[in-house]
Amino acid sequence: MRSVINITDLSMDEILELTEVAADIENNPLKYSQACKGKKLATLFYEPSTRTRLSFEAAMYELGGDVIGFSDASNSSTVKGEGIFDTAKVISCYADIIAMRHFIEGAPTCAALNASIPVINAGDGSHSHPTQTLADIYTVKKQLGRLSDITIGCCGDLKYGRTVHSLVEAFSKFKNIKFIFISPSELSIPKRMKKELLEKYNVDFVETESLENYIHELDVLYMTRIQKERFSDIEEYDRLKDQYILSSDKLRTAKESLCIMHPLPRVNEITLDVDDDPRACYFKQVKNGKIMRMALILKLLNDNNSNDNKDYFELDNKHCSHSLCVTYSDKRVKSLFKISSNDPAKTVCYYCEHSIEN
Ligand code: NCD
Repeated sequence: MRSVINITDLSMDEILELTEVAADIENNPLKYSQACKGKKLATLFYEPSTRTRLSFEAAMYELGGDVIGFSDASNSSTVKGEGIFDTAKVISCYADIIAMRHFIEGAPTCAALNASIPVINAGDGSHSHPTQTLADIYTVKKQLGRLSDITIGCCGDLKYGRTVHSLVEAFSKFKNIKFIFISPSELSIPKRMKKELLEKYNVDFVETESLENYIHELDVLYMTRIQKERFSDIEEYDRLKDQYILSSDKLRTAKESLCIMHPLPRVNEITLDVDDDPRACYFKQVKNGKIMRMALILKLLNDNNSNDNKDYFELDNKHCSHSLCVTYSDKRVKSLFKISSNDPAKTVCYYCEHSIEN
């Protein structure tokens, strides 16, 4: 039984293998059309989603499998006070694999600890979104023909955007990657990602507020939505929301081969005229996401390796202090810790991966 909560739960070789399976699925869809016959995917979505949920569902149907689940937590037993740990055990009796989205960080980890079937994290709070990253990797590979020697501009909400966090985590491990982080200072990439990941792996990066100054250097431009729902101060959101708007005229100095990406939904970060530019890849990303999810579901249903190797431990009287962590919001969930996968000198919460002071 194997779960994927973070993109680091897959090795680089496994990610590359998934892109190869995805290409084969695209070329030979009939070969896979009954591959999951008799299997059920449960989609447990506690946070709004159009793309990701329907993408998982379409992926399972195209593999010949079935889908059960909910798209609104108010229809689930959560409203009666059921914890994720019990929901995971219950769903394990009905389905073969779970895709879970939650606004609480670490909720899918808690589900994976308690489920007897694989759990895929379909996005938890601002933490992680590994299947979007699989879509992104496949898109870059198809568009640029390589996954190394790439300058990636990440623009917008780099603080709360989980898609950027997982993207940076994955691409930091590829060769000769340079990041240009473009955001207002209030929404900059978290300090812990810089310290525990980018500096640790010697990844070149620049932080700037200006898209115009760097657009000509980029191979990939990853635009993101300002994550309104994650702001505690709505005035701050209003002040920051219109800072970056990509329009055709701003692309004048960009490379011919630029790959313009966006995990969607877009609000106003990319004007509609950009959609006709051959460099716009965000709708291709949607299609690639479905194919990569097919490849991942297939892999997890056929993978007998376990990754529940209990690499966690308890610490006397220590609790995660991140207010959006599942252990913080549900005191019934036991506090657990692990050694950071990026920095062995750091102890982090097992669920949300925030550092704790040693
Ligand atoms: C993203 C998400 O949910 O994190 N969307 C997606 O999954 N395609 C990005 C966002 O909501 O802005």
